[in-house]
Amino acid sequence: MSEVFDVVIIGGGPGGYNCAIRCGQLGLKAAIIEMRDTLGGTCLNVGCIPSKALLHASEYYHAAQHEFADMGIEVSGLKLDLEKMMAQKADAVKGLTDGVAFLMKKNKVTVYKGKGKIAGKGEVEVTDAEGKVQKLGAKNIVIATGSEPASLPGIEIDEERVVTNTGALSLKEVPKKLVLIGAGVIGLEMGSVWSRLGSEVTVVEFLDHIMPGADSEISKQAKRTFEGQGLNFKLSTKVTGIEKLKTKLKVSTEPAKGGDEETLDADVVIVAIGRKPYTEGLGLETVGVSTDKRGIVETTGHFKTMADGVWAIGDCVKGPMLAHKAEDDGVAVAELIAGKAGHVDYDLVPSVVYTSPEIAWVGKTEEQLKADGIKYKKGKFPFQANSRARTNHQTDGFVKVLADATTDEVLGVHMMGVGVGEMIGEVCVAMEFKAASEDIARTCHAHPTLSEAVRQAAMSVEGWAMQM
Ligand code: FAD
Ligand code: NAI
Repeated sequence: MSEVFDVVIIGGGPGGYNCAIRCGQLGLKAAIIEMRDTLGGTCLNVGCIPSKALLHASEYYHAAQHEFADMGIEVSGLKLDLEKMMAQKADAVKGLTDGVAFLMKKNKVTVYKGKGKIAGKGEVEVTDAEGKVQKLGAKNIVIATGSEPASLPGIEIDEERVVTNTGALSLKEVPKKLVLIGAGVIGLEMGSVWSRLGSEVTVVEFLDHIMPGADSEISKQAKRTFEGQGLNFKLSTKVTGIEKLKTKLKVSTEPAKGGDEETLDADVVIVAIGRKPYTEGLGLETVGVSTDKRGIVETTGHFKTMADGVWAIGDCVKGPMLAHKAEDDGVAVAELIAGKAGHVDYDLVPSVVYTSPEIAWVGKTEEQLKADGIKYKKGKFPFQANSRARTNHQTDGFVKVLADATTDEVLGVHMMGVGVGEMIGEVCVAMEFKAASEDIARTCHAHPTLSEAVRQAAMSVEGWAMQM
């Protein structure tokens, strides 16, 4: 007789493990199935965490080379130990994946290692690495299987020279010439890491701008900043093939609209053209759960799939493919299963790009407001006029607040600057409470802090920014 759980979660990423924790807290008997060796999913193993560890370390290296001297700090004999940099990254990953395993124990969640598959109503099978199959009974099944990198037809990934995020986070030496396909979040973060460590980086992007989804004013300024840091962008361009020579790669490109071919030399190519839901071999057909053309698990609202008692969360359902969104989905589903109210407002999921300076936004862009015909007021404040940014010689960027022209409700905030990834949190809280720009403008912010720029931008909505 197979053990019966209130909830069986397939996938141990931020969606799955946070769902499991909340199930445990709510007294539900939960199991989680993960086919990787460690819990934590894409985020902890080959995504958010290792990329941030390399961004942090490479930023120090770059600052020591290029910024310390201006602050009166002389450094001699500076050199890169890539193996050690990778080891500290692995250490951060291990600490956090072990931490998730601990949290499963703490919340009495049973962990199964292996590939999970729905085997019919209320049944899940786990196949471990040796091929042994175990059957579990499930009153509820949560699909939290995440996503995988999208591929380009005709381009073969070997994870050594032509790599996805997985290989890009574990290169054994700094490539002399690096080509990135896609000027999205991975393109900019990984491009920054390897450029700081010495690579000559070219980013090939199909669209005529970088960072699709960002406010266009931010996207334009960010492009200028990143170009100043040494990143080369080839916009409105597509990659048509990669020829693998003995020591080099020849990357063929064409204008997006068609035209003459060009080639770029590279030692390594990173393919970062987006991600697609991962639902392979999951037995969805056994219970009548459907996916759309892009493989996104279809839900009828509030994470319910077409099948009774089968829920889906995180990267494999609609909404931004972000760890904190997956986490919130997971919490909401656990609460719904426990008979509580669970809801996630996808309009208030913040985005952060962890480059230097960082880029962060939440809510509507100017382009979206215009397209929706919403009348808005705009307040802007540059970090050039912020005392802390001036003190730290980190003045690149600005804060932009967009508020409803009639009600003054904050509809979107877009920032580029050092530390804005932390500052976006206050804006999310304000927007959850439907704050007016005046609420932010009249809230006391500590001095001297970078967050004063948010307040000044909010003041600027009504034209009374005081420090510029
Ligand atoms: P995943 O994290 O993908 O987890 C799904 C898990 O399910 C995986 O471990 C997989 O092995 C497992 N699985 C799949 N099928 C089965 C099966 N049949 N049986 C058992 N297990 C299965 N987001 C941010 O918010 N901030 C960031 O800074 C950030 N940085 C990123 C950097 C990179 C390089 C990448 C690639 C992504 C980054 N993301 C970031 C996105 C983030 O990683 C994802 O949005 C997040 O991991 C999604 O969580 P999830 O639980 O839905 O899926
Ligand atoms: P992305 O969607 O951010 O960017 C992909 C880029 O590739 C787009 O600009 C797109 O126009 C371009 N593109 C698509 N096809 C192309 C082609 N054939 N040739 C050239 N360019 C092409 O996806 P990315 O960077 O792969 O990241 C995947 C996802 O992972 C992100 O969307 C995000 O959800 C998540 N992520 C989040 C991070 C964060 O929150 N800081 C960091 C890294 C990833």
